[in-house]
Amino acid sequence: MDNGKLKVAFIGAGKQANWRHYPPVSSFPDVEIAALCDFNTDKATETAQKWGVPRTYQDYKHMLEEVDPKAVFIITNPKDTFELASYALGQGRHVFIEKPPGLNVNQIRVLAHYAEVNKSLTMVGFQRRFVPAMTALKARVDQRGPIHSVMVANLKSTSDFSRITGNGALDQLTSDGMHAVDNLRWLAGGDVEWVTSHVDTIYIPGPVANNVMAQVEFSNGVVGQLHYSMVTGGASLQPGATAAGYFRAEIHGKNITATVDADRLSTIVADSGEQEVFDSKVFGEAAGSEPEHWLGFWHQAREFIDCIKESREPSSNFADAVKTWELINQIYESSAV
Ligand SMILES: NC(=O)c1ccc[n+]([C@@H]2O[C@H](COP(=O)([O-])OP(=O)(O)OC[C@H]3O[C@@H](n4cnc5c(N)ncnc54)[C@H](O)[C@@H]3O)[C@@H](O)[C@H]2O)c1
Repeated sequence: MDNGKLKVAFIGAGKQANWRHYPPVSSFPDVEIAALCDFNTDKATETAQKWGVPRTYQDYKHMLEEVDPKAVFIITNPKDTFELASYALGQGRHVFIEKPPGLNVNQIRVLAHYAEVNKSLTMVGFQRRFVPAMTALKARVDQRGPIHSVMVANLKSTSDFSRITGNGALDQLTSDGMHAVDNLRWLAGGDVEWVTSHVDTIYIPGPVANNVMAQVEFSNGVVGQLHYSMVTGGASLQPGATAAGYFRAEIHGKNITATVDADRLSTIVADSGEQEVFDSKVFGEAAGSEPEHWLGFWHQAREFIDCIKESREPSSNFADAVKTWELINQIYESSAV
């Protein structure tokens, strides 16, 4: 903590960082983004000017030595994440990384180990856990009695697989569908006990699994169902939808059901009563009117900072992300197709 502010640095001045991470972090009065680093000097300079960051670097090691931040936001592509995160963890820094957290489950296992050894606090960018409508309605179902079943559907429509598979380094479910798998695990709350699935490639040639359904049983008795698809009509399932995909969770407790769609409407109904309907974009205490607020990025960044200030482990830490990746692997292994 310098001058009462938590000193952080960023590695990465690309699209996702400028879109979803610099906006919330630069708005926090108790945080100082002391420096950023990007190979690309133009991106580094433009980003620094836009978000008021005083120093830019092209060499991340040089930045970390000179600036000595408590925490580092590493917003790079998964092929770059392991090297950067392991270096920062080796120096005992707290580390935030984007999903997918590397190129394979072993990378995040090793990073989780480094975090434990160095007593670093860590977070993977599973912002769906922090969607204001999701946290508020899940809490209302929890209040009524334990959650017994959950469903997560992440439905999209595309034939452009080059854009989102890391040029072939990662499969679709891992690179993109990991949010849905993580959300299912987080909503269910237990450890995975049993998985059955159907993983399929339809309408396109080549080895790209683009339609996945799974049923998962958890140690606490919760049953989860997942549908992740790139070949559905996911962009326009409700009137007025503008989002490029459809991400919907159903959360069922004792005679109570919540549905959450962060981009559109969320609902809750108990017993045979009236259904309450909410505009998810202005839900509850959402702290602003930009997508980073209603999509969970603002709350995610705030939680990471608060965890560091209070020496608490974030729920979506590296060790927890290992479990999400392992569930993806189990979904593939259990498919009969
Ligand atoms: N959470 C979400 O919903 C979500 C959505 C989109 C993207 N993402 C993730 O965000 C990450 C970044 O995606 P993007 O589209 O912003 O990528 P990008 O290519 O636009 O940005 C990455 C930046 O990192 C820089 N970089 C990489 N290695 C570096 C190094 N060693 N030193 C300095 N700079 C380095 C690159 O120059 C580039 O500017 C990806 O992992 C992607 O999967 C997550």
